[in-house]
Amino acid sequence: MDVKRIAVLPGDGIGPEVVKVAVAVLKAVAERCRLHLEFHEALVGGAAYDATGHPLPPETLALCQSSDAVLFGAVGGPKYDNLEPPEIRPERGGLLPLRKKLNLFANLRPARLYPALASASSLKPELVAKGLDILVVRELLGGIYFGQPKGRSDDGRRAVDTSAYEVSEIERIAHVAFQAAKRRGKRVCSVDKANVLETSRLWREVVARVAESYPDVELTDMLVDNCAMQLVRNPAQFDVVLTENMFGDILSDEAAMLTGSLGMLASASLSSSGPGLYEPVHGSAPDITGQNKANPLAAILSAALLLRYSLNHEDAAAMIERAVDVVLQAGYRTADIATAGQSAIGTCAMGQSVIEKLGAV
Ligand code: IPM
Ligand code: MG
Repeated sequence: MDVKRIAVLPGDGIGPEVVKVAVAVLKAVAERCRLHLEFHEALVGGAAYDATGHPLPPETLALCQSSDAVLFGAVGGPKYDNLEPPEIRPERGGLLPLRKKLNLFANLRPARLYPALASASSLKPELVAKGLDILVVRELLGGIYFGQPKGRSDDGRRAVDTSAYEVSEIERIAHVAFQAAKRRGKRVCSVDKANVLETSRLWREVVARVAESYPDVELTDMLVDNCAMQLVRNPAQFDVVLTENMFGDILSDEAAMLTGSLGMLASASLSSSGPGLYEPVHGSAPDITGQNKANPLAAILSAALLLRYSLNHEDAAAMIERAVDVVLQAGYRTADIATAGQSAIGTCAMGQSVIEKLGAV
């Protein structure tokens, strides 16, 4: 029997609430598709810091390394924001080293507008009438997040972060973007700040070189400030957006909001071999933690990506995505995507509705 091991890292804030629902959906899908999934839970982020003094305990890392995939909730919260040294904060000491250790250089963030949610988009209806389907391909291990030197001077009056990229780091993420584009709209928009930054000039050069191997994919370059503007002016122009770590962080939140809510955006972080990590983009949302208010759809859709990319189970992935579609068409809404006149349901009820609609179409 082919058993797949899934490491479950609920983390902080609304992480545990949405991950619980996503696991329930995965179990229901596994039963229908006769998949054998094993779930193993571990601590990460503030929860791990509270229990062990470190946001990424060695057992958690070992569990991830010996699993086929990682389902991740969210880390961080006001309680941990000012911990010193920074390496014990949930983000800097938990999520970022986990990305690094698992070599998750490719972050895929599909921002798709479900037609039933057009009225929840922050854009005018005519701008999103034809739907939206953008894939943000974000480089996840380089740039200003990881470059050295990084830190504060002894007197505390100066701080430095360094942005650096190697040719090989740009090449490998560019291949991911072009390969994804081949299977979709065949267009890559590479986003940089080449009018100012050296890393961006290198980025642009390398991406252009990689593009030569993909003659059927059209490449355009765009400056990041222009891209931020174009995303709200005419988002339908984008197919695959390829960009570096920090620009991808920012633009993917923006793209998510165009589709109705940050609560809808799933993500996959992939390495070239090893387990992938799947997480909702929304973060820990301390303001609504523990109130059964969080939208679990981003976590559920992340579970679908897990089935697609790490377990190679397209049918099971599509089954979840269709169920989400059906649930939204039927008018179910959590508070973040409810518009005037619609009543909102809670996290658990939303998960239950998705489970009920599995296999409905
Ligand atoms: C994200 C998050 C993280 C990031 C934080 C929590 C470190 O914002 O995944 O987009 O900046 O990468
Ligand atoms: Mg972010």
